[in-house]
Amino acid sequence: MSEDQPPILESNALYHVYSSKAEDGNVVALRGLHVKVNAGEAVAVVGPSGSGKSTLLKCLGGLMKPSAGNVSLTGRNMTRLTGQELVELRQKTVSFIFQEGNLLPHLSAVDNVAQPLRHQHVRPKVAKQKAMELLEELGMGHRAKGLPATLSGGEQQRVAIARALITNPRLILADEPTGALDPITSREVLALFKELHEKKGVAFLIVTHSAEVADFCDRSLELRDGRFVAQHGADFEVDDLAGTRELLVDDIGTVAFPPDILIQMGGSGRYEVEDVGDGRLVLVAAEDAPSLLSKDGLKPAENCPACNHSYADDDTQRCPDCGSSRPMV
Ligand SMILES: Nc1ncnc2c1ncn2[C@@H]1O[C@H](COP(=O)(O)OP(=O)(O)O)[C@@H](O)[C@H]1O
Ligand SMILES: [Mg+2]
Repeated sequence: MSEDQPPILESNALYHVYSSKAEDGNVVALRGLHVKVNAGEAVAVVGPSGSGKSTLLKCLGGLMKPSAGNVSLTGRNMTRLTGQELVELRQKTVSFIFQEGNLLPHLSAVDNVAQPLRHQHVRPKVAKQKAMELLEELGMGHRAKGLPATLSGGEQQRVAIARALITNPRLILADEPTGALDPITSREVLALFKELHEKKGVAFLIVTHSAEVADFCDRSLELRDGRFVAQHGADFEVDDLAGTRELLVDDIGTVAFPPDILIQMGGSGRYEVEDVGDGRLVLVAAEDAPSLLSKDGLKPAENCPACNHSYADDDTQRCPDCGSSRPMV
């Protein structure tokens, strides 16, 4: 939270390529991403399915080695650490929460929660006691002995959250943590995140399709095809995207326009630089450019590509359910 602390999480020029021998070849999932999350900050990542959100989270959390680029946790470059150092840094700094609880099926709730402390060689009795306290705090004390299969989805997610919290992480990376929950349980989980964020200064990077979760965050980054295309402040209006969106230009000058803005400009094609100055750029479509300007027939998608929300007659540019921007098709 204080200015002199290094960012809790920072990445530079992060690329990831999934190589494949199949005919469709390699998939470039991340295309040179810069991310900075300050200590105590909550940041959402929004974007349609397949845009690279999960890949990004795994690379940032050290669960997967990016093809290129580096990631720093609390100012320490993870790519330069040895295996053991990396494990230790990760264990004491960051916890993951996935869409499904990802609990170990053969362990009871309390043993699942205690597990991260066991990895840190905390005495079993002490670990179990702390796990029990956390489960009680989360209203799950009475189910402590249950195996995951006997718990509801919401209960499993609470156990997963208790497990994430037991190490007192300074950063929580969450991949659609409320995606599999009913609205009431989602709200409870969100209330818990808020408390951790506000009272304990825990930083969050949350992949989400939920407008409520995105609202909880201090800002939202919009991902498309492995690039950040825009950033939204905390209080964006769902109906007025253009007014609240900041476009992102990276170090090498790449700017990717969100699809709806590209359509408003007139589509892909050749543009002339009419004027350029301090923080200002005016582009005008080249007169003879064969571009989408002349191709009509594109219209806003009827369904959200991310969550399948039906827009029906609505002309809003942002999905009211998940916050993704609405593409033209
Ligand atoms: N294990 C994998 N092997 C090959 N391609 C993958 C793998 N995982 C994800 N991808 C591809 O990488 C891209 C980004 O995927 P992902 O990060 O899961 O996106 P999101 O979480 O936004 O839905 C997609 O095109 C996806 O098909
Ligand atoms: Mg995903």
